[in-house]
Amino acid sequence: MDRFAAPRPTRTGDCVSRPTKTRPNCPEYRSQSASPRAAGGCWRTGLAPVLLAAFAALGYGQTASLDDAARVWTQESEYSGAQACRTCHLEIYARQEASNHARSLRQAGQVPELAASLPFSVVDRVSGFTLSLAAGSRGGVQLSAARGEEASRADLTWAFGSGTKGITPIGRAEGGAWVESRLTWYESLGAVSFTTGASQYDPKNSVEGLGRALTSEQVAECFGCHTTGYDKRASGPASDEAGIRCERCHGPGQRHVDAALGGRALEGTIFDPGGLAGFAQIQMCGACHGTPPQDNDFDALALLERTPHSVRFPSQRIVLSRCFNESFAELACTTCHDPHLDVADEAANLDEPCLACHDGQTRADGAVCPASSTDCSSCHMPKRRVMRHSMFSDHWIRVVGPD
Ligand code: HEC
Ligand code: HEC
Ligand code: HEC
Ligand code: HEC
Ligand code: HEC
Ligand code: HEC
Ligand code: HEC
Repeated sequence: MDRFAAPRPTRTGDCVSRPTKTRPNCPEYRSQSASPRAAGGCWRTGLAPVLLAAFAALGYGQTASLDDAARVWTQESEYSGAQACRTCHLEIYARQEASNHARSLRQAGQVPELAASLPFSVVDRVSGFTLSLAAGSRGGVQLSAARGEEASRADLTWAFGSGTKGITPIGRAEGGAWVESRLTWYESLGAVSFTTGASQYDPKNSVEGLGRALTSEQVAECFGCHTTGYDKRASGPASDEAGIRCERCHGPGQRHVDAALGGRALEGTIFDPGGLAGFAQIQMCGACHGTPPQDNDFDALALLERTPHSVRFPSQRIVLSRCFNESFAELACTTCHDPHLDVADEAANLDEPCLACHDGQTRADGAVCPASSTDCSSCHMPKRRVMRHSMFSDHWIRVVGPD
């Protein structure tokens, strides 16, 4: 299965004016409406036209390499590494370092969940291969696939996924080809099992028995979304920083660090995604969390609505919500999430952002729930089993009917 086989909406929106309270924006898209209003409206984007053009040209979000992402920010600078941010932003640093963003890529040999599962062996009933995981020679993890006389091995070097949902290692088979391991560690099982989608492949030989073959482009894509910067020549992270760290979202920071240390003006030295209006930020996060369609791309919007699988892509689902479409671009990812923190640490406070609009006082346009005054997301953003072993919250916020 193509892990990111999301509906691929096309990008048709061309208006970039910023909505204001006095000049309401586009005729809003209403999912309930049978015939969506005529196109020609504009999205609520806070990005300059030139940046939007860059997004469009790149199909931003489909490969999400650091080069693409670099177009979001404007500062020119070298990278400093996250460690350099620690001195002055200690609290954010401590939170972010422990977050799943930062842990979404690690060296396979350094992942406790994998280490605790070794050695592991299972017969793949689909292919007849016996798959085994064992400690590798250089501190890594070794995967082997054997059937009769046939046998292949791969050194699994990198582990993708923090472990909140799953951890899938990738590595090179003996001939040097990249493979995605046919075995993944799943949080919901607390154990290793077959990688979701693996059973759709019927391996013809022992190398294919190890897992899905990855082209170098696919490898670059995996790293593109799971680390700060990807180095093509090294086929790995550009620095010794593995997961998604500060400069992935804030852009290169050396100039900011130097200016701060030198007591010089900081303006324009670092990018603050908090300054992006709703849709622009949803797009930025959507480089990895699903490219959102423009509001006049009705085909793409309709496709999202009828594709349950798209629940995996919050940046796409959220633009279907009335909360987003009728709140003058105020709803961004950071309305509810601290991007430096995990949702498990925010869960207790996740009613607050809803009530900020729906307490019946703060806003004239925010209705009050007749059913409950707590635990909003349990009914309005229910968790769905999108993949065999993992649940995702539906970011299309709405009154969800019975299944
Ligand atoms: C020597 C101290 C220092 C270092 C090192 C430093 N910063 Fe800052 N940073 C500051 C100060 C001072 C401000 C302005 C006051 C504030 O917002 O805290 C600031 C502001 C920011 C802002 C908000 C900018 C805005 O326009 O609102 C971001 C984002 C930021 N820093 C990110 C980083 C990142 C990422 C790094 C590492 C690459 C880093 N900083 C390293 C001192 C530092
Ligand atoms: C470079 C790609 C990338 C970008 C950009 C990105 N994310 Fe993520 N995000 C990920 C990956 C990968 C994970 C899964 C981490 C894991 O558990 O392995 C994730 C996980 C998360 C989670 C769940 C954390 C948890 O509790 O497990 C939240 C919430 C989140 N991202 C929000 C955001 C927001 C908000 C933005 C924009 C400000 C953003 N992300 C930008 C790649 C990205
Ligand atoms: C377009 C960006 C993107 C690409 C490309 C990408 N990932 Fe991810 N990945 C994410 C995000 C975002 C998450 C967290 C949300 C989710 O699970 O969908 C994630 C989650 C994961 C997880 C944890 C959840 C799970 O599936 O068990 C694993 C493992 C993973 N990715 C592996 C990979 C591998 C291996 C590749 C390359 C074959 C890859 N990813 C390519 C963005 C990406
Ligand atoms: C996944 C993307 C992402 C990563 C990774 C990330 N940030 Fe941020 N950061 C943001 C966003 C989005 C905001 C705006 C938050 C808001 O407005 O609520 C922000 C705001 C900030 C601010 C200014 C606002 C504040 O709360 O003081 C600082 C400083 C900052 N980040 C530093 C860092 C540092 C240091 C790191 C690495 C340890 C880091 N960030 C990693 C997305 C990210
Ligand atoms: C930025 C403000 C804002 C935030 C934050 C917000 N909403 Fe809304 N929401 C609105 C507006 C505006 C509407 C449309 C008018 C109305 O029905 O109140 C709406 C509509 C709704 C509806 C009716 C949807 C429909 O299809 O008829 C529900 C249910 C809802 N919101 C729940 C929530 C929940 C739950 C949260 C938190 C997870 C939330 N909202 C966060 C502004 C917001
Ligand atoms: C109106 C509030 C709200 C907004 C806005 C919002 N989220 Fe969430 N998000 C939630 C809630 C609630 C959860 C579930 C928390 C829990 O598990 O208790 C969640 C969970 C997540 C997760 C964890 C995986 C999952 O699906 O459960 C990711 C990743 C995520 N959000 C990304 C994003 C991104 C990216 C954006 C911007 C496009 C965004 N969210 C906007 C409320 C919000
Ligand atoms: C137990 C499930 C449940 C919980 C928890 C819940 N809601 Fe609702 N909510 C509903 C149902 C069902 C409706 C539709 C009621 C109707 O149409 O009579 C609704 C309707 C709404 C509406 C639309 C009201 C209108 O007049 O259009 C909003 C807004 C809303 N809820 C927000 C919230 C917020 C905010 C929270 C958390 C403070 C919340 N809900 C918690 C079930 C729930």
